[in-house]
Amino acid sequence: MIVALSRFKIANDMAEEVRVAFQNRPHLVDGAAGFLGMEVMSPTDSKSEIWLFTRWSDEQSYRAWHRGHDYHESHKGIPKGLKLVQGSTTIGIFEVFAN
Ligand code: HEM
Repeated sequence: MIVALSRFKIANDMAEEVRVAFQNRPHLVDGAAGFLGMEVMSPTDSKSEIWLFTRWSDEQSYRAWHRGHDYHESHKGIPKGLKLVQGSTTIGIFEVFAN
């Protein structure tokens, strides 16, 4: 299993709107090949940061989804006017080797 860990920080006062958008997410990714699940969270002391864990059976599956049409469709609901802290966005691919 791999985890794609993506993180960004919201620069304006829109953290609540982003939470609501995730809570109402389109669920397109749920049917993607190799998708196992996801969690979206914020550090308890930094609500403007969003950390998104998506779990996949293998890196190929994640990359195929990220390149494809569904990735863009899944992001149509990003709240209008959202501003991110420049340089705050990171994506890492992690290999899970024990649990
Ligand atoms: C850095 C800029 C990003 C922002 C601001 C952002 C924001 C959002 C928001 C607000 C949603 C809720 C649903 C919607 O908007 O329609 C969403 C969904 C999602 N995002 Fe992102 N996202 C970003 C990058 C990423 C990256 C790099 C990944 C890959 C790991 C990712 C994976 C997902 C997934 C899996 C969903 C759920 C899609 C679904 O339910 O079909 N996002 N994103």
